[in-house]
Amino acid sequence: MSNTTIPLSERIIVALDVNTPDEAKALVKKCESHVSFYKVGLQLFMASWFTTVDWLVDRGHKVMLDLKFFDIPETVKLAVEQVNNRGVTFATIHGNDPIIRAAVAARGDLQLLAVTVLTSFGEDDMRAMGMTGTVADLVYFRAKRALELGCDGVVSSGLEAKKLRRDLGEKLLIVTPGIRPGANICDPDDDQQRIVTAGRAIEGGADHVVVGRPISRAADPIRVIEEMQRDISGLDR
Ligand code: C5P
Repeated sequence: MSNTTIPLSERIIVALDVNTPDEAKALVKKCESHVSFYKVGLQLFMASWFTTVDWLVDRGHKVMLDLKFFDIPETVKLAVEQVNNRGVTFATIHGNDPIIRAAVAARGDLQLLAVTVLTSFGEDDMRAMGMTGTVADLVYFRAKRALELGCDGVVSSGLEAKKLRRDLGEKLLIVTPGIRPGANICDPDDDQQRIVTAGRAIEGGADHVVVGRPISRAADPIRVIEEMQRDISGLDR
């Protein structure tokens, strides 16, 4: 079970995957009656640097800065320091032990999330890269290591959240992208592979779900958000 004290308005983190600060602000204004947690990723950060991050924080929203830092430990450490003390709640990193250690040492007021395996990465990709084992094994191994090294949490698909919660305990924050509104039907044109519904992810142990296109491309984002929040609250199960 995930942390039950998290308010419903913070369960869904809306991914602001848009090209300009104006588009991001317009999307936030559509959603903010229901959602107070937003993700700024590479696309928007390249377009607006910290402008949108600061705007969100000033507006009283929580921010997940999803830049997935991955570089030599010293560079990651210096990059994490750039994000400290700006009001950002979550920042994401990738990597092996020295990279994670460097990020943890520099994290200040941030909560650091280690990316386990991208939700767009499936078993076929493992085989193509000559990797043995399953995606689930790799996610578990990386999550356990991230926790041991002092990370606050991990980003993992909803398919693995249950095992991580059960075997790694309550302390680990689990943030789950790859959320789709319907049942687990894979759209062949969708780059996400390991998908679940918002309710199933939270029920399985995720603390937050990250949702991008199902909300940002919806004709009526609030209707999608309300459906997901009902699902999370258990009303639709
Ligand atoms: O549009 P969609 O709901 O698939 O967006 C998911 C968001 O979550 C994207 O911003 C993507 O960068 C992010 N993400 C992910 N898988 C991860 C980490 C982050 O899909 N492991």
